[in-house]
Amino acid sequence: MTVGNIPRHVGIIMDGNGRWARKRRLPRSLGHRAGMNRMIGLISRAKQSGVKYLTLYVLSTENLARPRKELDGLFNLLRKYFDDNVKKLYAQNSEVRVIGDLSVLPPDVRLKLIEGEENSPENADFCVIFAINYGGRAEILNAAKRAAEAGEDISEEKFSSLLYTGGIPDPDFIIRTGGELRLSNFLIWQAAYAELYFTDVLFPDFTDELFSSALEEYSHRNRRFGKIEDDK
Ligand code: IPE
Ligand code: IPE
Ligand code: MG
Repeated sequence: MTVGNIPRHVGIIMDGNGRWARKRRLPRSLGHRAGMNRMIGLISRAKQSGVKYLTLYVLSTENLARPRKELDGLFNLLRKYFDDNVKKLYAQNSEVRVIGDLSVLPPDVRLKLIEGEENSPENADFCVIFAINYGGRAEILNAAKRAAEAGEDISEEKFSSLLYTGGIPDPDFIIRTGGELRLSNFLIWQAAYAELYFTDVLFPDFTDELFSSALEEYSHRNRRFGKIEDDK
């Protein structure tokens, strides 16, 4: 499906893997594996659709308090993803970025993520941003500390440049699967004027077609940014 008015930057809160597994009487780890496979598909679809930036909420700062067993499974999936897929992204001229506090992750995972970012092409025509141990509040606090250290007067633009997402335009469209109606600490500064889209579909069931329908809905949204209709 081709749609007009494509969002430049899309964020996805990929929620519902655990419930997807429970419905099938499978362990949660298999839900996360199914979610990872779906994520791979959506990265391609987003690029084909003309999206320029895709931010994927992989793991929140709060998720780090989950049981060790679940986290170990998630880290294994990340290891595998970065080993198997990142070079394919480079080959398609896609840039890889990682946002979040990587310092507390297992060292080998941290290294893979940093290398994934460092080896990625420059001037790419598509950028995938993985939010890992990411929290909007932690990000804002970190930027505030850097601003205080610099000691200069600070503008919204300057502050934005100090966030993990420095240099990346704000998200135009945020999709959350899994039925919850909240942001759960995702891009809370950057989402000020994002269009929000919530669906009950659990992430592993969020097909390319459903993603395209969400983009189609975005194309009909009327973004006013506080102005009145005639102002445009
Ligand atoms: C989202 O799925 C993935 C992560 C938060 C890591 P969940 O694991 O939160 O799935 P539900 O919400 O329990 O179904
Ligand atoms: C949000 O999902 C985080 C990710 C999808 C990575 P959660 O399942 O952690 O969110 P809550 O706990 O329902 O708010
Ligand atoms: Mg959840």
